Amino acid sequence: MPRNRFGEHHTFLPLRAQLSFEEIERFVRACLPLGLTKVRITGGEPLLRPNVPALVQRLSALGIEIALTTNASLLKKQAPLLAEAGLDRVTVSLDALDPQTHASMIDSAIPVETVLEGIEAALENDLGPVKVNCVVQRGINESEVPALVHHFRGTGVIVRFIEYMDVGRTNGWSPEQVIPSMSLLGELQREFDLVPAEQTSPSDVATRWAHSDGSGEIGFISSVSEPFCGGCVRARLSADGHLFTCLFASGGHDLRAIIHDDGEVEDMTNAIVAVWSRRMDIYSEMRSSDTSSLPRIEMSYIGG
Ligand SMILES: C[S@@+](CC[C@H](N)C(=O)[O-])C[C@H]1O[C@@H](n2cnc3c(N)ncnc32)[C@H](O)[C@@H]1O
Repeated sequence: MPRNRFGEHHTFLPLRAQLSFEEIERFVRACLPLGLTKVRITGGEPLLRPNVPALVQRLSALGIEIALTTNASLLKKQAPLLAEAGLDRVTVSLDALDPQTHASMIDSAIPVETVLEGIEAALENDLGPVKVNCVVQRGINESEVPALVHHFRGTGVIVRFIEYMDVGRTNGWSPEQVIPSMSLLGELQREFDLVPAEQTSPSDVATRWAHSDGSGEIGFISSVSEPFCGGCVRARLSADGHLFTCLFASGGHDLRAIIHDDGEVEDMTNAIVAVWSRRMDIYSEMRSSDTSSLPRIEMSYIGG
């Protein structure tokens, strides 16, 4: 949430508006008959919410994969508890190793060392494969890309370079800020011997490349230059009970009444089907058409 856009008097979501862990679990249960196999806990910053391991424990007991995306500011301390609760994997956001570039991009005083310690703790607690997300912005952090590849080579950590997206309205996005993945790959190939690696699943959003000597892999998420709307199977539930069928949606479907109601899980499943079966979102494939003037949900609200 850029400070210069949201300001110090921004009204945050009141705590009473947040779904309880029990309500989140019921929602996830309602998705199981629809083929749900994986849940990612994101944010905002998910580890700021007290007792996230308790949520992980509830969800992992449902027999699905549980992943978490975090800025790692609180990960070192929480990694053992999260692992014990049944968390499978962690993705950490890290856009630069250079302290100044990192500080300016995250607009916070969290030191790079803290993030690296968090990644280390995730590795030590088997929360892998640990992935690092680096959003690349032209003129801001592209020089950090080779440094990140060097740093994590041979560690088992997979760095994924994400094209800077026009999520929300407050990040001041313009197409000139996007560096296409293919151009980044070309630059990296001057320095590293990278070979294409097999895709793990059709819904995998990253294109995988491996160091030819087996010392690790990297990935590219080309959401702007090569949109993958056709293969997207992600539904997003906001902290206050709205269901979003696209990261770029103008609004969510308000399911609060049915989530708060202590009724049959089957009724919630039917409500989700009603929303999902009408889904027509192909925003990234239509980018630059008329939809670019519509309101859009902020990344800080929906979590990437
Ligand atoms: C919004 S964050 C939320 C979770 C957590 N607070 C964190 O920092 O990882 C989720 C992911 O979205 C990515 N992201 C944020 N803004 C983006 C943008 N404009 N384009 C592409 N990815 C973005 C971040 O790098 C991060 O990995």
